[in-house]
Amino acid sequence: MSVVPSNGSSRTTSTQIPSERVLTLGVYGASVPAERRLAELASLVRAAGGDVVHTMVQRRPANIPEDRPITSATYIGSGKVLEVAHAVAEHEVQAVVFDNELSPAQIRELESRVGCRVLDRSEVILDIFASRARTKEASLQVELAQLQYTAPRLRGMWSHLARQAGGGGGGGMATRGPGEQQLEIDRRIVQKRILLLKERLAQIEARRERQVEARSARSWGVGLVGYTNAGKSTLLNALTHAEAYAADQLFATLDTVSRRWEVQPGLAIPLSDTVGFVRDLPHHLVTGFRSTLAEALHAALLLHVVDASHPDAEAQVKVVQAVLAELGVPEHRVLGVLNKCDQVADPLVLAALGQLLPGAVRVSAVTGEGLEKLARIVADRRSEDWAELQVHVPHDQGALVARVNARGEVVEERWEEDGWHATVRVPRGMVPQLREVLTL
Ligand code: GTP
Repeated sequence: MSVVPSNGSSRTTSTQIPSERVLTLGVYGASVPAERRLAELASLVRAAGGDVVHTMVQRRPANIPEDRPITSATYIGSGKVLEVAHAVAEHEVQAVVFDNELSPAQIRELESRVGCRVLDRSEVILDIFASRARTKEASLQVELAQLQYTAPRLRGMWSHLARQAGGGGGGGMATRGPGEQQLEIDRRIVQKRILLLKERLAQIEARRERQVEARSARSWGVGLVGYTNAGKSTLLNALTHAEAYAADQLFATLDTVSRRWEVQPGLAIPLSDTVGFVRDLPHHLVTGFRSTLAEALHAALLLHVVDASHPDAEAQVKVVQAVLAELGVPEHRVLGVLNKCDQVADPLVLAALGQLLPGAVRVSAVTGEGLEKLARIVADRRSEDWAELQVHVPHDQGALVARVNARGEVVEERWEEDGWHATVRVPRGMVPQLREVLTL
């Protein structure tokens, strides 16, 4: 794992050192399931190319509120710092990863006391996103999130960014020597780079928004969302008989993938996969990935895919619901899909998840169980959202024909002397605009 940008590259930084020896540490209140939290942290570390060689837990005393440090200087208590330093030496640890959010000052203090690099969970997630970004937009978004997140931790290692930031004295800054002056210069370079990235992203996003809006106005589509590893890509493949990338790996999908899904014979709708969500997703990434998610979020219906076999499934459902709420998605546009049912023996588990996601469909993307039912329900939702109408549009209202073509579908049409006669399918919201030209 490395968050140091590679020299002179405008690409995002990413996991470069495989099997870096990592010690993970979590500070939790007495009721928090530490083992599961650390297991998830271990998967994140593995996804970032690290190898967890030792884990430690410190329980937060009852008088300290959740998410608050035990001491402000090092987050953990001073005795624990000593224990970590010993473990680092004993297990030849190269990086200590905290499950808690650390301040830049805490990281610096901890590093000087334990004798190796210290990262927090957000930094690891950023690192994974960096290594998975495939499109230009995803790369820029991750780079921006990394810079915004790590800028306060600057210690004079960013000078090479001068060239990309577009000037400010050129590339000779690295030779000016360390110290405050250097740090100040570096900060300015990073701020410039952040502005440049924001500008570029705004351009890409504006273009993308226009495309997505045009597309979603025309067709009724479905988006897949869910906690990372819930089985979204596997489901996309199973439903569309395609070969999207599916792996038992966190955040295997970073960029939106879209395919046609035939929900009933002759009726194919667009189905998009998206980046997986995770607990405590760094804030910059949530906002950054809004546009990557745009395609799915604009979909008429979102399928919230859940790994029903996961011991933390309920908590994962709540995380996804919270992120969707933050992104402004109304609940009625979301349908729950309880996946991996082939792995669930206890019906009570499914019932409990059903409480959180009323009307959720039980499926297995691997065995195919429940997929036909899912297709039927989705086809029904589509027909509820769309109306089939017969219209007669006189020649002098040609603009209306264009609008129907842009937003709806023409099932059948014929041009006659008195104008356009057609059977059309349009979103229900459009029906009032057509009231004057309805023939049935
Ligand atoms: P991210 O890209 O991280 O968001 O993951 P994802 O939600 O796209 O998950 P993916 O489809 O990559 O599946 C994760 C793992 O779960 C893979 O190993 C799949 O084979 C497995 N999996 C998916 N669906 C099922 C299922 O219905 N049953 C079982 N037993 N395993 C499944």
